[in-house]
Amino acid sequence: MTTGAIGVFDSGVGGLSVLHHIRRTLPDERLIYVADSGHVPYGDKTASYIEQRSIALTRFLLSQGAEAIVIACNTATAAAAATLRRDFQCPIIGMEPAVKPAVAASRSGVVGVLATTGTLESARFAALLERYGGEVEIVTQGCPGLVEQVERGELHSPKTRDLIARYTAPLLDRGADTLILGCTHYPFLAPLIREVVGEDVVLVDTGAAVARHLQHRLQTELPARIAGNASTQFWTSGDAAQAARIMSVLWGEGVNAKQLPPAFSGG
Ligand code: DGL
Repeated sequence: MTTGAIGVFDSGVGGLSVLHHIRRTLPDERLIYVADSGHVPYGDKTASYIEQRSIALTRFLLSQGAEAIVIACNTATAAAAATLRRDFQCPIIGMEPAVKPAVAASRSGVVGVLATTGTLESARFAALLERYGGEVEIVTQGCPGLVEQVERGELHSPKTRDLIARYTAPLLDRGADTLILGCTHYPFLAPLIREVVGEDVVLVDTGAAVARHLQHRLQTELPARIAGNASTQFWTSGDAAQAARIMSVLWGEGVNAKQLPPAFSGG
């Protein structure tokens, strides 16, 4: 067993948008990231499928010395956070679309949510709207295909632009002046989304808030803990060479992605 680490997982490479914030907030930590690329996208899978994958990935991260787990995925949080918190003792940090800050930012009184179908149809999202959505109109939009574009590294292609235009148009038509990027893949598309929707629309995501929340949970729940030696390791349940290619682009430096052992990669 090596020194304590922070384990982070997502259905694929999207969670790297959160990992960037974690690295900035906690520069001394040993971070272990798993992309479940063999099973991406989660957005159209059943909750029980995502739950099983989340349990397997959490077990793997704990076997590598993780002392806290970040679910860097809105869809997996909606499907599996409650189960992980029941089954595992360590801090489990989830994430959800940034409805509260978006409601505060909106001047038009209309907020658009871009997310996966899984997130939008979840009970957790319904509860979130119930809690914070009251004062404004919230318009939701599932975005099939967008995650796959990020997984392919197509951050600026005409097809990606067409999808973004198609998914944002109904929200803008309804008068939304604030768009929630409710999936961790979408921040990587923010420059293109910005081009499509214009300068005046506010884009919000939760990556920075998740990193701050993680820091707070570590301080309060594991106060005696000493960070491991600063490093970042990358694993994937998909093709390691392909994952390394796209991860290197999104992480901004060369990434060596390792293959998840078969016991955890779910055949
Ligand atoms: N990145 C994920 C999220 O935040 C899930 C994307 C997917 O696999 O559909 O929702």
